[in-house]
Amino acid sequence: MIPFRRSGLLAVTLPGLLLLAACGSNQPAEQSTTTAPAADSTQTKVAAMPTSASFGKALDGTEIQFYTLTNKQGAKATITNYGGTLVGLMMPDRGGKMGDVVLGFDNVSDYQSPAFRKANPYIGALIGRYGNRIAKGKFTIDGKSYQVGVNNGPNSLHGGKVGYDQKIWEATPGTSPDGQTLTLKYLSKDGEEGYPGSLQITVVYTLTDANALRIDYTATTDKATPVNLTNHAYFNLSHGVSKDILKHEVTLPADRYTVVDAGLIPTGELRPVKGTPFDFTTPHAIGERIAQVPGGYDHNWVLNAETGQHPAATVYDPTSGRTLEVTTDQPGIQFYTGNFLDGSLKGKGGTVYGLHAGFCLETQHFPDSPNEPKFPSTILKPGETYHTTSTYTFGVRK
Ligand code: BGC
Repeated sequence: MIPFRRSGLLAVTLPGLLLLAACGSNQPAEQSTTTAPAADSTQTKVAAMPTSASFGKALDGTEIQFYTLTNKQGAKATITNYGGTLVGLMMPDRGGKMGDVVLGFDNVSDYQSPAFRKANPYIGALIGRYGNRIAKGKFTIDGKSYQVGVNNGPNSLHGGKVGYDQKIWEATPGTSPDGQTLTLKYLSKDGEEGYPGSLQITVVYTLTDANALRIDYTATTDKATPVNLTNHAYFNLSHGVSKDILKHEVTLPADRYTVVDAGLIPTGELRPVKGTPFDFTTPHAIGERIAQVPGGYDHNWVLNAETGQHPAATVYDPTSGRTLEVTTDQPGIQFYTGNFLDGSLKGKGGTVYGLHAGFCLETQHFPDSPNEPKFPSTILKPGETYHTTSTYTFGVRK
């Protein structure tokens, strides 16, 4: 057990658990305590409800919490109400040893630091109102033009200047027949970042006993508006062992991807992946052909299946034996290989996040859909309910 101090918090790393305990005089006491499970236990005694504790104070003085969901196998998902961010995810490797498979930070101040804001990596956060880019932040609905926040060169990325990743969500821990849950709600008011309509959003994280983290997104609006919600977790299935994800083997059941211009805005072309470094229809190590893709992978793949819950990605990490299966009802997936991570950020336990330290699999509608009439529509109208589910299921290969 190695205790270390950061920003007035005493963080203690336990096998199978990241436990943060308030220790500074300006920090409130923990609301409840968590108990470390035996790392390789197969039948962890699960508390009736997720536990919660202080994640420190946000810059505006709001007390931020983190919540830990646990399942019977001893897997854990740690989520904070700041940005609805997935902070940690403990999953077993092929030897049954728990390890953290996502990038994240020890307290809320790390997510609000000048270095984090400068790098703007959206690590683990909920993304909205519109995931990925809208060209020049402009679109037209029913003949009316809108200008939303521009924060990525001339374009709008992940909701604009202050996206949902920087909002404080109302959090309610609970349980369901499928496992422990955290329900997060946020009201994005009419005109926020220039978007039309008040959007009432509910996101539910569920950790199932089958080592799956399911994310259900629901939203309603009072004016027609584009909506494209996702989660921006960076995975590293051998986190703690390997500094980058280049050896992970990825399969994407997608015969086409959306071609982008220099500003990463789709040109409208859906190009076949066959014969290109974008062909992940059979497993390929991320590092195998990445040098042939200037900057690294940061593209939207057009998933072959169009209806119902369908496979979106499979990842195998030969180092740890861990596997990840992603399913979704969305038409696309942004496979992003952490190309902008540059070592300027230190995550949990002081880990430096350098180039390709993690990869993202963002289930989504295609980037810039509001300006591409041929892409599936992202416009939500009053009276309709936006609902989408994506599931990240972990396993091992011996
Ligand atoms: C985008 C990248 C962007 C990153 C921010 C990804 O979803 O596609 O271009 O830099 O998010 O971390």
